[in-house]
Amino acid sequence: MKTSNLAIFALGGALMLSACGNNEEAEIEARMSAVATFMIEEMDETADGIWDNAGYILTEEGEESLFPETDEEWAVVIQATDDLIAQTRRLQSEEFAGDDEEWIAISEGLVVAAERVRAAAEARDEDELFDAGGQVYRVCLACHQRYALDIQRIR
Ligand code: HEC
Repeated sequence: MKTSNLAIFALGGALMLSACGNNEEAEIEARMSAVATFMIEEMDETADGIWDNAGYILTEEGEESLFPETDEEWAVVIQATDDLIAQTRRLQSEEFAGDDEEWIAISEGLVVAAERVRAAAEARDEDELFDAGGQVYRVCLACHQRYALDIQRIR
C-alpha cells in the first residue's frame, strides 16, 4: 500500500464511513501526492538548513559542533527560517490544506517554531537554537503522526 493511500485512510476514516464519493477520495489522494512532492522537494531541504546547523555530531575525534561560526553561516540559518515560513504559508493554502482547519492549525506551529529559530540565530544563542530546532521537528512529527500512518519512511 502506498503512503498516499494510508494517509487518506488516516484522514478520511469518518468521511469514508459516511460513504463519500470517489471524487472526494480522488481529491484527497491528489492533494496528498502533491503534499508528498512538496515535502520531499522543498520542506525537507529547508528544514535541513536549520538542523544541519544546530547540534553536535560524533566523529572519531569526538564531539563536533555543527553550530555556525561566521556571520555567513548564521545567515544560512536565518534564510532557512524565512524559507520555512514562506513554505508553511503555502502548506496552509487550499492547494495543500484543502479546507482542513486542523491541518492549518498544526502548520501554524511551524511558523511559531521557525520564528523562535530565527530569534535564536539573531542572538547567536546555540542552546536556544538547538531547542527551537527541536520544536520545529516536533511540529513536523505531530502532523506526520496525525496524517500519515506510514511514519517509518519519514521524519
Ligand atoms: C500540516 C501537515 C504537515 C506538516 C506540518 C509537515 N508535513 Fe511532512 N508530510 C505530511 C504528509 C501528509 C505526508 C505524507 C504524504 C503522503 O505521501 O501521503 C508528509 C510527508 C513528508 C515526507 C516524506 C514524503 C514521502 O512520501 O517520502 C517528508 C520528507 C516530510 N514530510 C518532511 C517534513 C518536514 C521536514 C516537516 C517539518 C519542517 C514536515 N514534513 C511538516 C504532512 C506534513
